Amino acid sequence: MAGGAVSFGHFRNVRKTFPRPGEEPLVSIEDISFDLKDGQLISLLGPSGCGKTTFLKIVAGLVKGYEGTVQIAGEHVREPHPDFGIVFQQANLMPWRTVLSNVLFPMEILGRTGAEAVEQARELLSQVGLEGFEKAYPPQLSGGMQQRAALCRALVHKPKLLLMDEPFGALDELTRMEMHDLLLGIRERTGATTLFVTHSISEAVYLSDVVAVFSKRPALLADFIEVDLPYPRRQEMRYSSDFVELEHRASRALGISR
Ligand SMILES: Nc1ncnc2c1ncn2[C@@H]1O[C@H](COP(=O)(O)OP(=O)(O)O)[C@@H](O)[C@H]1O
Ligand SMILES: [Mg+2]
Repeated sequence: MAGGAVSFGHFRNVRKTFPRPGEEPLVSIEDISFDLKDGQLISLLGPSGCGKTTFLKIVAGLVKGYEGTVQIAGEHVREPHPDFGIVFQQANLMPWRTVLSNVLFPMEILGRTGAEAVEQARELLSQVGLEGFEKAYPPQLSGGMQQRAALCRALVHKPKLLLMDEPFGALDELTRMEMHDLLLGIRERTGATTLFVTHSISEAVYLSDVVAVFSKRPALLADFIEVDLPYPRRQEMRYSSDFVELEHRASRALGISR
């Protein structure tokens, strides 16, 4: 899916500095401009410390005082939006709540706790292979299972925008590859527009319509790579010459290879 023509996310000359006592402010993001089309999955790929999380948090409305334009669905982002779903590297489930009750948490915030919400949460849990674990507590689950539950929690209120910050970074490689197909399957069914932060070149290429490569801090767009591999993606595509060429291009943009 190449994504529709509508520009859903509109980012222009986004810049962010953090004050430092007795020093020049730290420039985290220098100048980032791109468009996120409706239904698209764009990865933000860049080295550690280059400003990826800062950018994602700005889009999430969690960072005040940035420069430039950040619009989602035509509206300037200034504060957290209930219509967004966020997944971080750590699942951050509440250990004293069951899996089902963790997934339902956003619905509680929105005051939508009826039978329909429970049904939606159960449906999502079964889609990610957690059927039968509704009443389990997070510490009883593996890291991958916790992250799948966190994904359900991010999706339960059918967000217009899914923001993911290295969500699979703490998982082993096999679990990670499973999560890639799981995420793409969910994306196929829900059509959720997604920004996905990663520092893994192969993860970025495997998942994305577009890989936006951030330079070292302060972040500029080093490349904006349209991934013209068909969906559904298949694990064996990772070994195709087209895939490897895309990885090579990203690696050149990162300054790792020539
Ligand atoms: N709240 C903050 N206050 C001060 N500096 C920050 C803050 N958040 C991030 N930074 C700095 O901005 C830079 C980019 O950080 P970050 O966006 O977390 O990078 P990444 O996610 O790409 O690893 C880093 O140098 C970091 O120390
Ligand atoms: Mg980060």
